[in-house]
Amino acid sequence: MFTSLIDKLEKEEILTQEEFSELIKNRTKEDEEYAAKKARSIADSIFANKIYLRGLIEFTNYCKNDCFYCGIRCSNKQADRYRLSLEEIMSCCENGYKLGFRTFVLQGGEDPWFTDALMIDIIKSIRAAYPDCAITLSIGEKSEESYRAYFAAGADRYLLRHETATDAHYRKLHPENLSLENRKNCLHTLKKIGFQTGCGFMVGSPFQTTDDIARDLLFIHELKPQMVGIGPFIPHAQTPFADKVAGTLQDTLFLLSLIRIMEKNVLLPATTALATIDANGREKGILSGANVVMPNLSPLGVRKKYTLYDGKVCTGDEAAECKMCLERRLKSIGYETVVSRGDYSYRDYS
Ligand code: 5AD
Ligand code: FES
Repeated sequence: MFTSLIDKLEKEEILTQEEFSELIKNRTKEDEEYAAKKARSIADSIFANKIYLRGLIEFTNYCKNDCFYCGIRCSNKQADRYRLSLEEIMSCCENGYKLGFRTFVLQGGEDPWFTDALMIDIIKSIRAAYPDCAITLSIGEKSEESYRAYFAAGADRYLLRHETATDAHYRKLHPENLSLENRKNCLHTLKKIGFQTGCGFMVGSPFQTTDDIARDLLFIHELKPQMVGIGPFIPHAQTPFADKVAGTLQDTLFLLSLIRIMEKNVLLPATTALATIDANGREKGILSGANVVMPNLSPLGVRKKYTLYDGKVCTGDEAAECKMCLERRLKSIGYETVVSRGDYSYRDYS
């Protein structure tokens, strides 16, 4: 048993790379339960039984990048491409606002059609119509100047998963024009500008080793993001990784717990990918330390087109149905969603 290492992580908020590797590699079922219990009790003491809601608007599946794992990579000629107009995006927000969403997450591929001027127009329009809502962007790697312009226009948060903190591994997941160095620079820039920033990685991505995951945890500790997004890798049939195996539920849950124990206040979603590999994945994620869910607000007509991986759940339900379904699921484990922005809190955990 590694309960002493888990206790050490709780107290010192970091382990060495060797300790993380040892813990991840050789943990027992009892360790997983011990970590989940500790993680949940930390989350309960900070957020009580409240789960934050984020409304995800997948506004373009065009992407200039060619990441080997992703279903909307530019080489996938079979992807059915779409873009939402400003009016369509605003109508997603309107629908979401009525349902109680106070954070809108604009996520898309890296699509040059959405110039900075257009993004700024979208951000300002949402900011003006919903001054009490948080605006989160998840649109990839941009220049510092662009990031500053989005922030000035009213965006509050930015999600940019680092994908892997190991250079050699990064190169196995991405074409040559993408680099871990640039990815990390973007994250540091976003934090410097004042965005609540989220990094993260896929669990069980091809070629990932336990040491890679240990380095991911060390990177998270170093960056101190306000949000961390992790979910299992799931193969997509029209990518070079079509035949790779998916990440596991068990690994994802254990890592969610370790991240909660290490970064106590962090905003940690139970992701759609997790719900995709297990029928009760989101509930299990919450019980392992997650405190955020991100239902989809995209129009039904485009839902199935935003497929980063195969089998994605919740592509056939209206946002209202999805929210009700989620609330019923959360209630069954003693949790409920709140109507609030759900910002990061710097309050000391004790
Ligand atoms: N399986 C799971 N997650 C994926 N992502 C992209 N492709 C996949 C896949 N096949 C994740 C990446 C990206 C986020 C938006 O979705 O981590 O940053
Ligand atoms: Fe979307 Fe259940 S949460 S259908």
